[in-house]
Amino acid sequence: MAFRILAIAAAFFVSVRVSSSGSASPAVVSRIAFGSCANQSADQPIWNAIIDFDPQLFIWLGDNIYGDNRRPFSILGKERTIGPWKNVPRFFPSSEEQLKKSYEIAKSNPGYSALRRRSKVIGTWDDHDYGLNDAGKEFSGKDTSQRLLLDFLDEAEDSPRRKQAGVYASYLFGPTGKQIKVILLDTRYHRDPFFSDGSILGETQWEWLQQELSGPGSEITIIASSIQVISNLSASTGPYFYVESWGRFPKERKRLYELIADSKRNGILFISGDVHFGEIARYDCGTDYPLYDITSSGLTQSVENAVPQPLPFLIRAAAWLIPSTLRVYSPKCRYKSCTYGKPNFGVIEIDWDASPQSIKIEVRDVNGNPVTGVELLLSELQSGYTHKTLSRGVYQKHCTLEVDLPWFLRYRLSFLLFGALIGAIVVLILLTVIMLSLSKRFLRKYKID
Ligand SMILES: *[C@@H]1O[C@H](CO)[C@@H](O)[C@H](O)[C@H]1NC(C)=O
Ligand SMILES: *[C@@H]1O[C@H](CO)[C@@H](O)[C@H](O)[C@H]1NC(C)=O
Repeated sequence: MAFRILAIAAAFFVSVRVSSSGSASPAVVSRIAFGSCANQSADQPIWNAIIDFDPQLFIWLGDNIYGDNRRPFSILGKERTIGPWKNVPRFFPSSEEQLKKSYEIAKSNPGYSALRRRSKVIGTWDDHDYGLNDAGKEFSGKDTSQRLLLDFLDEAEDSPRRKQAGVYASYLFGPTGKQIKVILLDTRYHRDPFFSDGSILGETQWEWLQQELSGPGSEITIIASSIQVISNLSASTGPYFYVESWGRFPKERKRLYELIADSKRNGILFISGDVHFGEIARYDCGTDYPLYDITSSGLTQSVENAVPQPLPFLIRAAAWLIPSTLRVYSPKCRYKSCTYGKPNFGVIEIDWDASPQSIKIEVRDVNGNPVTGVELLLSELQSGYTHKTLSRGVYQKHCTLEVDLPWFLRYRLSFLLFGALIGAIVVLILLTVIMLSLSKRFLRKYKID
């Protein structure tokens, strides 16, 4: 009980710290949860597990609601939504009223309401709460969407975040010596179209980010991006399907790594959402210590729940077959692939009192049990760690990009699928030939008799 009261008091101090310049000494923050992709109209039982973790801070990583509308897949008929002959887009935006209603449903969810009462909640957006699937800077409803997201997050009426173009923001938690900076990126408002290799953040946000990273240090800096920073799944699944990621904008991603390296800032971690599964990736050649990207997606939406039985098994097999060079594999993962395609949330736990100080990062399932995770010392996120401590073989392993894999490995899922398809066609042709010749023989025999 005393523990609970302390936690509530801590949450209160966190709010004090963020909302005013505050005379109270900020509380130590050691438990952070995050998540993405929550369908406001679906059951959201996962909040119970999040509340049990008792986070002082919860971070929304986008698709906080599904605000746009989706037509069903249709190959034929008047409204075709798939194939080169499609004549209507599969997704279309909602009115302001509908969007507002969706946020009201999300906000009044009993589990989420209980979390808001005890934890500080902050967040950014992804495409479906921005207003349209895969949308970028061209989306005309973005200013309305910005106002509605900030209302949902209880952003103060006079907050500068309401006046700027985009929802990016930064926060500082904890007392000197135990500080956590959280940087929320906006990957939508300024984003150029796909295949343009243009910008994700836009120039103003880049300048802001540079100031945030080069400003006073903090023991930990969490950079929240709605889309994955390190993993580039599309490299092994294109051209069949692409997911959004920083990898799709190689120049922009290089700029991010260079900015981090130039800032000489220690303790940086990425968190991301969007893809409807969870995983942890690590890149050792971005700066001179390992960069981790913990992806948690989604709170309700997941690749396995999107398909009927027994297809989840095939999805798990595919997840295992698609090669990933940067994923963190561990025998402790729930599945061999070290991905998790059912509803999940992410947690970061810092042991400030341990000596040396340590940090535990996990993706957890709907019951709060870990499905993948890493445990680190804070000193592993310090400048120079890679070259001073790790052998060349170890860090080179986490420097190989997906696109550097030999083609037969990179596309092995495609080869298998193609192989299976061709095999099925051959079997079908053979069966047809056999049936035809059998029936001919039968007919001949029938006539002769
Ligand atoms: C959200 O959940 C509702 C109710 O289960 C369902 O009808 C709807 O299709 C879901 N939306 C998405 C985007 O999954
Ligand atoms: C990610 O994959 C896409 C698709 O294959 C590719 O065009 C892009 O260059 C890759 N990005 C990086 C940084 O490797």
